[in-house]
Amino acid sequence: MTSPSQSDREKVVSKLPPWLRQELKIRTAQLRVDIQDAVHQGIAHWSALASAPSPVDTSGAESFSTWLPIGQWESFRAASKDRGVSLIQGLAQAVHLWLEMNPAPTVKRPSVVRRIVVCNQKGGVGKTAITAGTAEALAEDPSTLHPVRVARQLARLSPASDEPTGERGASYSETTPVDLEDLPGLGMRVLLVDFDPQGHLTKQLGQQPLPIGGDSLTCHMAGEAKGPLTDLIVPVPDDRFGDRLHLLPACTDAFLLDVRLSTVRAREAALERALAPVEADYDVILIDCPPSLGLSMDAAIYYGRRRDTEQPGASGALIVVQAEDSSADAYDLLTSQINDLRDDLSLDIDYLGLVVNLYDGRRGYIATSSLQAWMDIKDPRVVAIVPDLKEQREAVRVKQPLFVYAPKGDQAVALRALAREIS
Ligand SMILES: Nc1ncnc2c1ncn2[C@@H]1O[C@H](COP(=O)(O)OP(=O)(O)O)[C@@H](O)[C@H]1O
Ligand SMILES: [Mg+2]
Repeated sequence: MTSPSQSDREKVVSKLPPWLRQELKIRTAQLRVDIQDAVHQGIAHWSALASAPSPVDTSGAESFSTWLPIGQWESFRAASKDRGVSLIQGLAQAVHLWLEMNPAPTVKRPSVVRRIVVCNQKGGVGKTAITAGTAEALAEDPSTLHPVRVARQLARLSPASDEPTGERGASYSETTPVDLEDLPGLGMRVLLVDFDPQGHLTKQLGQQPLPIGGDSLTCHMAGEAKGPLTDLIVPVPDDRFGDRLHLLPACTDAFLLDVRLSTVRAREAALERALAPVEADYDVILIDCPPSLGLSMDAAIYYGRRRDTEQPGASGALIVVQAEDSSADAYDLLTSQINDLRDDLSLDIDYLGLVVNLYDGRRGYIATSSLQAWMDIKDPRVVAIVPDLKEQREAVRVKQPLFVYAPKGDQAVALRALAREIS
């Protein structure tokens, strides 16, 4: 942005109709431009036209103030007078002109579908909650603004005051005011795959598990399906997702997946073979993994490997952990399984990061020192710290997507930041 410094600007107060002000706010956020620069450019373009453009509906105009380079408002006032339009009409035309000259950007879609494998064999750490929330954030409407917590606070670890003497520790400062920014949705076409036979993801989103005896992901992975996989996929309806968020529901037959896979040829590739026919319909596919380390987990990790034409870090494993000691052992087992697969099959498997979920610094030294231990790992690094908040549990209770139940809540705000961090 080439905006003059604030000292070269003067404050101007005028009026704009609310619809135009809203469009200006959204478009400037989409294009990452300051509102004052947009108004400045709009007035400059308007003044350079040979005559005033068509009138704009200014009914209901409300107070609007901005900063313009010194002198621009005075010249604009004179030009409006010459063109026989009121200052409010002139400003509305100028803003409208800027919007026409600066259309909304189209959503940038990955050339290879991104595959995010959310895993940890430990149950109850929040894999399902993080999978669903990240997917919802990725699919949100790109033509409206949503509050996002900017990730700056991940760097804000300070020595803890309650640490036992002689030991090093740190605390995640929850008293630091959260930096919020209104940003457009990411507008991705997203498929959620409920890969856990318990079907928590399916149920949380208010959907039904697939009936036993019919087609299911298990049947597709075992090569025994009767119809196409796409017939099993259902939309997660809500205006904020448009028709971009879909779910492949679980089926309890997945409890036998490892057994059925044991006779399948090249079984690591079974999930990839099953999902291949639907990949073209999506930008991102998220796999909500079961709490196990069996053959099905191998298939999920294999699915998240880096493909030949893919950038490092576009797909891979996102590991959800908690700030408590028992999480560390589970983490070691999981990473050794990933590393073995990587070595045995010569695969590139990227880590997309660690999510420290259900964090509550008030739990004291165990929580703060475990958080620090996760931060110290550095590779993979911590990409989000998600607080323990009741709105998550409430959304599960009422079987609604978190972003529908509490779109402005702290949880959604944090998950939007996570979705951007791993994009
Ligand atoms: N950040 C959070 N704040 C509050 N409750 C959470 C949070 N993350 C998960 N939960 C709740 O914890 C429980 C376990 O989470 P879940 O996502 O099902 O874990 P997993 O999939 O790893 O077994 C669920 O009731 C869920 O609603
Ligand atoms: Mg789960």
